[in-house]
Amino acid sequence: MKIFCVGDVVSRVGREMLHTHLRRVIDENDISLTVINGENLSHGHGMSRRAYEEMTDCGVDGFTLGNHAWDCKEIVNLMMYNKNIIRPANFSDRCPGKGSMLLTARNGQRVGVINLSGQTYMNPCSCPFEAAEREIKSLKKETDIILVDFHAEATSEKQAMGWYLDGKVSAVFGTHTHVQTADEMILPSGTGYITDLGMTGAVYSILGMERKPVIERFITGMPQKFSVADGEGRLCGCIFDINDKGITENVTRISIM
Ligand SMILES: [Fe+2]
Ligand SMILES: [Fe+2]
Repeated sequence: MKIFCVGDVVSRVGREMLHTHLRRVIDENDISLTVINGENLSHGHGMSRRAYEEMTDCGVDGFTLGNHAWDCKEIVNLMMYNKNIIRPANFSDRCPGKGSMLLTARNGQRVGVINLSGQTYMNPCSCPFEAAEREIKSLKKETDIILVDFHAEATSEKQAMGWYLDGKVSAVFGTHTHVQTADEMILPSGTGYITDLGMTGAVYSILGMERKPVIERFITGMPQKFSVADGEGRLCGCIFDINDKGITENVTRISIM
């Protein structure tokens, strides 16, 4: 089964890239399930109901989040009524929503998805490794096909998670840094891995934001008003080809401009 995982989708440019290309990618590659990171869907900050509905209409089956999970207040209600949205499992237990979900792919197979947040250079959260173990234990009762979106800043922490979960899940992919890495591989015990899927959003930008205020901020150290960038877009993600035992047989990096 082929699963298409798309990194942080940023604002209108990112959503339009999925409008334009997702159906074709699904058809051409015989994709059974599509999961995106939705933390930046609405003006770069969180996911509104409108953005959620727009993306499900495009063919998106599941949504993960990250440090921007709560930026848009509608998310609390959205998560309550839609079981295909998760936030990092190692956020406080008092947070709304869940850290893992079970989705049904187009071919009828069940797929578990876990969302985790890193601890290095990220907001405080509990141990992602322990949270992964806990979520895997419960999902394994239902399926052998499990994906992990590790929303984290540090490459070393992401690689550590990949190696820690090798053979325990089908794929570990990173999100949050908004730049696609070229290190996709299959780890020795069959887990597909990439450090970051990359951003789907404006190409001529700094992580999806207008360049000028970001540069100004670096030069002056003074606060600036950031706004999302417009213009030409790029769609970034990975297709994981996973067998019935949950082993990844192929990883294909996707970058469409
Ligand atoms: Fe992001
Ligand atoms: Fe993030």
